[in-house]
Amino acid sequence: MESEDRPIGFFDSGIGGISVLREAVKVLPNEDFVYFGDSKRAPYGVRNVEQVKELTFNAVEFLLKKNIKALVIACNTATSAAIIDLRKRYSKYMPVIGIEPALKPAVEFNRKGKIVIMATPMTLSEKKFNNLMRKYDKNSIIKPLPCPGLVELIEQGIIEGKKIEDYLKMKLDPLKDYGIAAVVLGCTHYPFIRKSISKVLDDDVPIIDGSKGTVEQLKRQLIKYNIVINNRDRVGNIKIFNSMNSQDIIGLSYKLLRAEN
Ligand code: DGL
Repeated sequence: MESEDRPIGFFDSGIGGISVLREAVKVLPNEDFVYFGDSKRAPYGVRNVEQVKELTFNAVEFLLKKNIKALVIACNTATSAAIIDLRKRYSKYMPVIGIEPALKPAVEFNRKGKIVIMATPMTLSEKKFNNLMRKYDKNSIIKPLPCPGLVELIEQGIIEGKKIEDYLKMKLDPLKDYGIAAVVLGCTHYPFIRKSISKVLDDDVPIIDGSKGTVEQLKRQLIKYNIVINNRDRVGNIKIFNSMNSQDIIGLSYKLLRAEN
């Protein structure tokens, strides 16, 4: 099989990485993709690093059996726990791309107030995020905001309505007194509740996620590894697998893939 005919593998602890996959499909429409979500064991963000590392390696094994030509860890939590080890093991064979909170574009908006980073408790407590924060906290006020419990709602398909809005108000309202410069979505599940987040925030607050940057990096890495980017005239195939093995979660995944941002 020519390398361009092999799929690109995507992984997340659940359905969150679909928010990155839908961006990849826009940028690389002729590629085939295979997605694995580990919803059975989600959320990862409240587990310890060793557990997340082990679960991530197991998931990657599944994707490797699908003969992938590049690997995207479309999960901030799994990236913080495992990306260094994954690269050590696999980057000789293929590009290994991770995702991290898009702090740089938030800083570049140069607005007054705090930059709020919504993410899982694990992402925010890991070294990777703390190094990133240190890079930008000299000239900006950065407020990490752990959001335990949010992934569980989104995994159930609850992306709008009172339950989500009450949760977001409880988290974001206390920060408004000091002014919110921007909100960074540091978990790939959160772009699916963007509308609810903007409802709770003041009108002009930018909400930023890392999916575009991650997909640009994927494209750059494919070129760097001399992997031919598909330009055949058919649209690529997308196969979604989930450890939950239920049609409901697969159906929800395809629905979110086709949903507008
Ligand atoms: N989508 C994952 C992330 O980007 C959610 C982690 C979880 O399962 O808690 O962090």
